[in-house]
Amino acid sequence: MSILLTGGAGYIGSHTAVELLNKGKDLVIIDDFSNSNEKALDAIKKITGKDFKFYKMDYKDREKLEKVFEENQIDAVINFAGFKAVGESVSKPIEYYTNNVSGALVLLDTMRKYNCKKFIFSSSATVYGEPERIPLTEECRVGGTTNPYGNTKLFIEQILKDIYNSDNTWDICILRYFNPVGSHESGLIGEEPQGIPNNLMPYIVRVASGKLEQLSVFGNDYETHDGTGVRDYIHVVDLAKGHVKALEKIDKEGQGIYIYNLGTGTGYSVLDMVNAFEKSTGKKVNYRITDRRPGDIAVCYADPKKAKEELGWIAEKKLEDMCKDSWNYIIKNS
Ligand code: WQD
Repeated sequence: MSILLTGGAGYIGSHTAVELLNKGKDLVIIDDFSNSNEKALDAIKKITGKDFKFYKMDYKDREKLEKVFEENQIDAVINFAGFKAVGESVSKPIEYYTNNVSGALVLLDTMRKYNCKKFIFSSSATVYGEPERIPLTEECRVGGTTNPYGNTKLFIEQILKDIYNSDNTWDICILRYFNPVGSHESGLIGEEPQGIPNNLMPYIVRVASGKLEQLSVFGNDYETHDGTGVRDYIHVVDLAKGHVKALEKIDKEGQGIYIYNLGTGTGYSVLDMVNAFEKSTGKKVNYRITDRRPGDIAVCYADPKKAKEELGWIAEKKLEDMCKDSWNYIIKNS
């Protein structure tokens, strides 16, 4: 029995592959390298000393996907093949809806055909829109997403709920990620955004390394302790371990649809992040305060209690690890 990882060479997929292989799971990975690099596959093997089956393909290619299910006994699927750049999604909505929503439908339809009904979905805290309250619990209102990327996450969550309502022999776990940062301690896998990064941590490391000149801090007039935006940054290795726990949950309990926040429960501001990065790496981060970024919210962090109680999962890594490991990856790969 194998676990299928779509987009398994990407940032979160590759870290999850490592944790699953370390737990002795058999993996099949598919990826078309549209937002990832082939070298991640060798890195996964190097870190774990284990092998896996790989198909270079687009997960929307139904014929090829069926071949994967024909050739392997797939027990569960974790879908990491979504596009994830918020800004890009605004200029390319058709591409985002096609890849994320149509792609998920092709995948789910193929799973149904082969009677594989265990599915873990990478959702996002973005589905909460403007938070109803802080910290965010899984019961908080969803909706009010402000870009196509966020809409795709929201729509797929709804599709999954409808699928479960129509056939409750599915086992579905929706994981709402907060702000993933960091990389594996080996420095062999990590995040490689194409072009100029949108997210804070990739931007900070590129300013520290001299690749980018200055960080723009988007607004210092929010109602937060220092006026800058507050988020729940979570180490990607902790996040990856959350998927292992989610898989154990749907394997053990069976037949249900579950939703979990994967966050630390602690919010840090943009300036907290800059200071923590400087302190843990000894590198200076040149920044200036600019206008707010349209669509940004002031504060967003998780209540991670449900994941702790039901999955036995908590984020263990500290802010210092997040900064050091993000930096380590850049040093080793530039
Ligand atoms: C964090 C904070 C910015 C860059 C987005 C998506 C979400 C997601 C994670 C997808 C905010 C500030 C940022 C910069 C800054 N998932 N900032 N200067 O906005 O919480 O969430 O990424 O993959 O769906 O919406 O993350 O890293 O962009 O921003 O001041 O150059 O840093 O204003 O307060 P965000 P982020």
